[in-house]
Amino acid sequence: MIPKDTIDEIFNRAIIEEVVGDFIHLKKRGVNFLGLCPFHNEKSPSFTVSPAKGIYKCFGCGKGGNSVNFIMEHEMSSYPEALKYLARKYNIEIQEEEQTPEQRKAANERESLHLINAFAGDYFSKSLTETEEGKSIGLSYFKERGFRDDTIENFILGYNPNNEKSLTKSALDKSYQIEYLLKLGLSKKGHSGYFDFFKGRVIFPIRNLSGRIIGFGGRILGNDKKMAKYFNSPESEVYNKSKVLYGLFESKKKIVADDRVYLVEGYTDVISMHQAGIHNVVSSSGTSLTEDQIRLIRRYTQNIVVVFDGDAAGMKAAFRGIDMLLEENMKVKVIALDENDDPDTLARRLTQEELETYLKEQAQDYFHFKTKTLLKACGDDPALRSKAIREVIKTLAIIPDKIDLNLQSLSLSRELDIDQETLLYEISKFQQKRKNDQYKQSKYNHLSVVEPKTSVPKQVVSTHNPTENQERDLVRILLNHGETKYVTEIEDEEGEMQTEETYVALFILEELLGNKLHFNNPLYQSILEKYVFHYHQDELLTAKQLLRSNNPEVSQLVATLTTEKHEIGQWERHGIYIETEDLQLKRMLHSSINSFKLRRVTEMIKLNQSHLKDISDEKKWKKYLKKQKQLEGLKKELSSYFGSAII
Ligand code: CTP
Ligand code: MN
Repeated sequence: MIPKDTIDEIFNRAIIEEVVGDFIHLKKRGVNFLGLCPFHNEKSPSFTVSPAKGIYKCFGCGKGGNSVNFIMEHEMSSYPEALKYLARKYNIEIQEEEQTPEQRKAANERESLHLINAFAGDYFSKSLTETEEGKSIGLSYFKERGFRDDTIENFILGYNPNNEKSLTKSALDKSYQIEYLLKLGLSKKGHSGYFDFFKGRVIFPIRNLSGRIIGFGGRILGNDKKMAKYFNSPESEVYNKSKVLYGLFESKKKIVADDRVYLVEGYTDVISMHQAGIHNVVSSSGTSLTEDQIRLIRRYTQNIVVVFDGDAAGMKAAFRGIDMLLEENMKVKVIALDENDDPDTLARRLTQEELETYLKEQAQDYFHFKTKTLLKACGDDPALRSKAIREVIKTLAIIPDKIDLNLQSLSLSRELDIDQETLLYEISKFQQKRKNDQYKQSKYNHLSVVEPKTSVPKQVVSTHNPTENQERDLVRILLNHGETKYVTEIEDEEGEMQTEETYVALFILEELLGNKLHFNNPLYQSILEKYVFHYHQDELLTAKQLLRSNNPEVSQLVATLTTEKHEIGQWERHGIYIETEDLQLKRMLHSSINSFKLRRVTEMIKLNQSHLKDISDEKKWKKYLKKQKQLEGLKKELSSYFGSAII
């Protein structure tokens, strides 16, 4: 735990243009700085840094936040890691706070595991290059495979000796605990004591996004078919296989720069491609990609080229994996290598230039490749053909973009010899089926409104929130105008109009709390709750304070909403003319609150109606009917605010 005071100091000392400037070339533009966004591919700069507000914001991709957010996003680090990074940069000492015994144990354990992995990586690396056995066995193996010294160093390749002086023994000598060595799978217990799991194997360390070693792959030296070619570290507190890609740490910069990634099968494919000058290559280590791995890639690029080994026996399985990439909105190309080739052999055979040309020329559209492959397999058999076509259509139905889909179906209609209209019709049937399946999965079968917060399943609402826009509007007003003074007129007991001065934030809070209204979007709701918390302590929370929230999602949202262009223009378009800024704010405020309420009431009416349909008990039925009338009345009242323009 980093103490609150230290966090405050980090925020105070961090200068956003310096923090960002370490990674991006910034140019001064008026009071702000401008540069090329590191988070998406752009040719003209839309990435803005505001020293006054202490935030960055990209008007191209929408990313924004404070210094800590930037480091988290750019370096793919956690919140405490980002704080520590900034503390190092600004020479701020972190004295970690006392933790609970459990916290300390967990943190110590993770840290111990990291330390041991680092120790083991170092041990393997030294064994490879500095010991007789390592040099004659491990190093000569790598050399035989054509790995250069700089490659071996870059990927920290190593060797686990096959003699008495084992890793386990050295680690225990250094007082590392056997419990952790076993947990990391580096040591095993045998009949006569502990031994090295990877003994006699060459070592491929696996690193996380910040470059720390979190696990290992160990290969036998030769091609003994009876032995498992690779041993791999088991999962542990520091190694979650489904969230790691081999080579991503080494490739991430180039993936962003090229806006493309190559996906290959194994460790050696990644390494050989890198050695040949292709620096945007990752491997899923012999298994099909997980959803988490795909999302990891998508943080850097949407374009993926999947490279199959020549012996693509499991083509079907590969197709399934690629369909998953499409589901996650990736743009996919494939390269099917010749029989007996893999990226490793290819990269060794060709020069960098030849390899680059080869990759460019061979990359083909996934849909065409799949169509061709499937059709080829069924010859002239019409039943098989129709099955294959169905398979292609199923994949086409995943394409989320309408224009993409249209283009793809047009060109595939020629290939399949089916007119485009029929094809699109068949696709739409699969799309419908997909929608139905998703609907069933989401269990979103009733709308939850104005009910206690606990009854709102979080993920459901966040994916489909009927009042999303209204909630966002209100949060935006809270953040941008919360501290603005606000004058309302209220009737006192004698019926006289009295003016009362308050703040915009308080007005919103009282409107919401008074009507027992909450937000469905959990993030907006958490911001609202923060305001309420301070409200109960007679304080006014400000956007500036929220920008320092230790929840990065909150600070990013605050940065985004406080920099979004204001929609005042919209109000004018609605025929509302503005006399003063005050009046303008007032109208925006009332309109947003009423629009939120109107939406809610409309949803409540829907819900109530569905109850009415299901109820057989007369008493209850009457109760719901009465409620229905009340709600309808309320709706009418609220609607009248907008005239007939909105409903
Ligand atoms: N793999 C594994 N265990 C095995 C075989 C393979 O974990 N017994 C994983 C490894 O991550 C490997 C990947 O699957 O890198 C691809 O397998 P393969 O192509 O057989 O290995 P290569 O890395 O290409 O190794 P080599 O070139 O030395 O044959
Ligand atoms: Mn291989």
